[in-house]
Amino acid sequence: MDRFIINGGRPLQGTVSISGAKNAALPIMAATLLAPGTHRLNNVPALRDIDTMAQMLEHLGCKVSHNGALEVCANHLNFDEAPYDLVKTMRASVLVMGPLVARLRHARISLPGGCAIGARPINLHLKAMEALGADIHLKDGYAEVIASRLKGADIHFDVVTVTGTANAMMAAAVADGTTTITNAAREPEIIDLALFLSSMGADIEGAGSDRIVIRGVPQLKPAEHTVVADRIEAGTFMIAAAITGGDIVLENVPTEFLQTAMARLEESGVRFESTSRGLRVTGPEALASVDVTTAPHPGFATDLQAQFTALMAIAEGTSVITETIFENRFMHIPELARMGADISVDGGTAVVKGMGKLTGAPVMATDLRASASLVLAGLAAEGTTEIDRIYHIDRGYERIEERLRALGADIERVSVE
Ligand code: EPU
Repeated sequence: MDRFIINGGRPLQGTVSISGAKNAALPIMAATLLAPGTHRLNNVPALRDIDTMAQMLEHLGCKVSHNGALEVCANHLNFDEAPYDLVKTMRASVLVMGPLVARLRHARISLPGGCAIGARPINLHLKAMEALGADIHLKDGYAEVIASRLKGADIHFDVVTVTGTANAMMAAAVADGTTTITNAAREPEIIDLALFLSSMGADIEGAGSDRIVIRGVPQLKPAEHTVVADRIEAGTFMIAAAITGGDIVLENVPTEFLQTAMARLEESGVRFESTSRGLRVTGPEALASVDVTTAPHPGFATDLQAQFTALMAIAEGTSVITETIFENRFMHIPELARMGADISVDGGTAVVKGMGKLTGAPVMATDLRASASLVLAGLAAEGTTEIDRIYHIDRGYERIEERLRALGADIERVSVE
């Protein structure tokens, strides 16, 4: 198992290029199942979760190669099942449900069970499939989804769900008639999926708003697409500049999708400047404390909450962080406390008393964004921080230590027996 060793206290400087978005690439990879032929996806990041989705596509019968572009040949599907082993490794595997039902009229999807950040059921995905005409049978830990014919429907999500919206869009793309999704997720990753589906021949309107209208077409064709840049990775690098008092330039940063996070960072003293090379991010000498409440897009992203909490731990004053999306997304807090942070949690609210500084300590990563928050804390802390179980960070950040090192950070990956 690998571990990071970070000697903190170095302000970051230099330029970093933002990768393609994991959470856009995953549904788009699943969408390739909708049409036989070879699809070509550019700007797909080299990440563990991407490998897991590639394995899933191969398991179903596709041929996948990732040399520069990611190519998926979806001519023959041999299986209709998302097995437990892959779903438990990555719950986004459930994204194959919509495409499989659309293409094969039948899918068996392992129920994901709970995960580190919350219960995360898939009841709303199943409700959407039912609305589109599927019969659902829950048996032996699997959802069997059968639809002799998919027909357009009005789907209203009681809770905004990103992958649920994606599954509904993919199945509706080839349903008979028109589907209207209301209270749809407005995340940029949904817009990117709609762009890919449209290049495949789908008829979709309204992606990026809370009402998406999909007029079903008889069939789709293979397509080429370039995946949108990763707003969460960009936000994480912005916080890295802020927390170290650094001065960095971000290339390929999707600023239009980061307005809320950038506004909160500006309130805390971070400066942004658009330059010919990219977005310059300068951290202040002293950070002001700012309250944030997570919300579906365009609100403050839950996927940046842990990183922002680390930032507030070294700010001056008290900030209140409210998590409204997942019930257990404060696992980084006891670890930050080991580094000297003063944070008390009551339900979905964390009160962070900024200490002005943190000190290095051995800590443990518990999930993807929690590990990013510990890396950020380690970059800012006095002394040495050792972060265990960093396989979590490899799920969502490409070569993070190399890219931070290029910005002047003192961070090493070491293998531990
Ligand atoms: N929910 C239900 N029932 C459902 C689906 C969702 O109750 O059938 C609830 C969830 O439990 C949660 C809320 O709805 O409380 C929102 O969950 P959502 O379905 O939107 O989450 P997701 O689609 O499973 C995606 C991202 C997550 C990100 C969330 C929220 C992907 C592959 N994953 O998950 O990303 O946190 O949206 O923005 O797109 C990450 O990258 O670290 C990550 C966890």
